[in-house]
Amino acid sequence: MQQTPEKLEIIRPDDFHVHFRDSSMLAAVVPETARHFARAIVMPNLVPPVVSVAQALDYRQRIVSHCDEGFEPLMTLYLTETTTVDELQKAADVDEIKAVKLYPAGATTNSASGVTDVKRVMPLLESMARSGLTLCVHGEVTDPDVDIFDREAVFIDRILEPVRRELPELRIVMEHITTSDGVDFVRSGSANLAATVTPHHLILNRNDLLVGGIRPHYYCLPIVKREKHRVALRKAVTSGDCRFFLGTDSAPHTTETKEAACGCAGVFNASNTMACLAQVFEEEGALQNLEAFCSLNGADFYRLPHNTERLVLQKATKPVSFPSTLAVAGDSEQTVTVFDPGMDIYWTVVDHT
Ligand code: DOR
Ligand code: ZN
Repeated sequence: MQQTPEKLEIIRPDDFHVHFRDSSMLAAVVPETARHFARAIVMPNLVPPVVSVAQALDYRQRIVSHCDEGFEPLMTLYLTETTTVDELQKAADVDEIKAVKLYPAGATTNSASGVTDVKRVMPLLESMARSGLTLCVHGEVTDPDVDIFDREAVFIDRILEPVRRELPELRIVMEHITTSDGVDFVRSGSANLAATVTPHHLILNRNDLLVGGIRPHYYCLPIVKREKHRVALRKAVTSGDCRFFLGTDSAPHTTETKEAACGCAGVFNASNTMACLAQVFEEEGALQNLEAFCSLNGADFYRLPHNTERLVLQKATKPVSFPSTLAVAGDSEQTVTVFDPGMDIYWTVVDHT
């Protein structure tokens, strides 16, 4: 990494958690990710979900038709209670597939086909522990008696800690952690346990979501938490600890479906993630660790080579602005609202090679 006061050059980053959807939305959002990122772990929560190797490879083809060769989608399978050990073995043998995603049934967008009881998939997780295929986990319980702000901490106690104890060889990424409980859990684990963190959970707390009016574009799952958790996340990612790496959880929904009486969960941040992160790391006095978080730690966990291309960010003297919406291809009416960090951002991506 090279750094001058106004310019920062890092190895081209990867996004280890992104939602691309399909059809016209796919066409609109893939170029936004491919512009700055070399690779991305693509979530499988389509309708219907991506449950087989064949479906994942088909989906991969649809993704690459919207970007040039410089971008590599890394595919995932959606774990269901009817997934077979055979299919998981096939996935482990296919280079294009890097992980399997566990959604607790009902936890989030398109999770209806997810897992109702982790005991039902233990033989599958055992096979993954043997093959080395990574398990990506949406870490929230769905028990209606558990408060939405406690669902991550309860998931760790009830589900993740027992799984980790029973299958220490299983490689687990706790996706989009949002609490100090998540940070502590990952820190207490072995090298087989890591976590992704989103830019928005480093920037927002629950006051930003709810005080002075509800901000539907800040509604995502897991929901943003109280300030002490945001502080803990910032400390974890800026520390350089190799178990924390970037997963944007960029999750496009149309502006219309976000600004609704029952709005969808998801923040679309693919367009300005790198600028926001440079700002966060600068605020924390840790620009020297931005490259580890965005370009090294995740690649190392997934045993991927480091990217050879580079990304250059420049610091402006005045706050920069970003387009506030992205048009959905083929539909002049529909837009996706781009994440507004609600703070001044001075950084822009000026170049990548
Ligand atoms: O906010 C979210 N949106 N969280 C998720 O877990 C899923 C995602 C989506 O697919 O919209
Ligand atoms: Zn997600």
